[in-house]
Amino acid sequence: MAAAFTYKDNCIHCEAVSLADIARQVGTPAWVYSRARIAENYHAIKTAFAPLGAELHYSLKANANLSILRDLAALGAGADVVSGGEVFRALRAGFAPEKIVFAGVGKTRAELFYALQEGVGWFNVESAQELAVLDRLVAPAGSAAPRVALRLNPDVQAETHSHMATGHSAAKFGIDLPTAQRLAAEWEARFPGLRLAGVHMHIGSQLATPAPTVRAVERVLAFIDTIGGQHEIEAINIGGGMPIPYQEDEQPAAVPQFAEALAPLLADAGLRVMLEPGRRIVGDAGVLLVEVQYVKERAGVHFVIADGGMGDLLRPALYGAKHRVWPVAARPGAAPILVQLAGPICESADFLAHDVSISPPEPGDLLAVMDAGAYGATMSTNYNARPLAPEVLVDGEAFKVVRRRQKWEDLIQLEV
Ligand code: LLP
Repeated sequence: MAAAFTYKDNCIHCEAVSLADIARQVGTPAWVYSRARIAENYHAIKTAFAPLGAELHYSLKANANLSILRDLAALGAGADVVSGGEVFRALRAGFAPEKIVFAGVGKTRAELFYALQEGVGWFNVESAQELAVLDRLVAPAGSAAPRVALRLNPDVQAETHSHMATGHSAAKFGIDLPTAQRLAAEWEARFPGLRLAGVHMHIGSQLATPAPTVRAVERVLAFIDTIGGQHEIEAINIGGGMPIPYQEDEQPAAVPQFAEALAPLLADAGLRVMLEPGRRIVGDAGVLLVEVQYVKERAGVHFVIADGGMGDLLRPALYGAKHRVWPVAARPGAAPILVQLAGPICESADFLAHDVSISPPEPGDLLAVMDAGAYGATMSTNYNARPLAPEVLVDGEAFKVVRRRQKWEDLIQLEV
């Protein structure tokens, strides 16, 4: 697979477009995405999981730009959503309602009602109370018995950052197995309007290896065995979590390794297999483009202050996530120095990167914060009254602004 971002003539290009050109025309900070890379990533997962016939539901929370969603819907993906807003977005982008999977630990009545009315395909339910709420809404929404997957908490520890581990017993997510068994047994009496047709799990994100996922799937399959007599379970949804390397020396398990590790368990299970990848599809297809404003040195530490920061890309401040930083214009021969790349926000945590080694930056230089396509723009905020950065989609030699930059006027529009 060709890299989406490469140096040509000493300047980073996204596909055939120079990031310097984009910055000139669109300004900074700006998100830049490679359309081809997103499609390639989608196909790579589809191919690796073809022996399992896996159905991909792209996880909108990673990047929910409508242009990207439209492409993925056209490629045949379904959508994994976690709020009424994401249901709305997925429908707007053209996902068929039956290919939308509605997950989330805190769905409100209004959100569930809306999703029922729109004919959303699956509800991944996370508690007994949520089942009761959904059951009561079926008739008023005029909906046929919706397909429900119980989101199980298989109590496994994923190898990832603690903020991204969701399948252990202390996490708020999912239903423990004994409770799920009881619910399945009491289903007819308690939730007559719902069809228990699947099980769902998602043990975490940026999973280093497939081993904990394999353990969790084993537990989930054992659970299906115990309730198989009472319900027609047609699908197992194993969530998202497949990782990308954020550093040159990182080698998290690749997509085929996940597929191969799961194949022996799932190939003959007689179940539809569903996946909810987010990061693996868009993560390495995007960068955050920023411009250096100021450079200063204190006690030997080089601070580089950019025009984008934690309000744009929150991951470094929130998780200590490490993204590579590339100067848009390479300066061959310039000896690199170690810099701290900070943003303009009035918070000491406002860094895009610590200890990155790059040629000495100067005001006006452009930098690309790499692998920012997932959980970048979707996690941005207006803190410090900073407008959201625009999103640019590159397609070969062309590019398009697919979300314009917010204006100051936009920031006060909701206030009365
Ligand atoms: N399915 C469910 C139920 C999820 O909760 C998630 C992510 C996914 C699928 C997609 O997971 P992925 O394939 O992208 O790993 N903000 C964090 C990541 C949080 C992930 C939340 N759930 C970050 O910036 O790394």
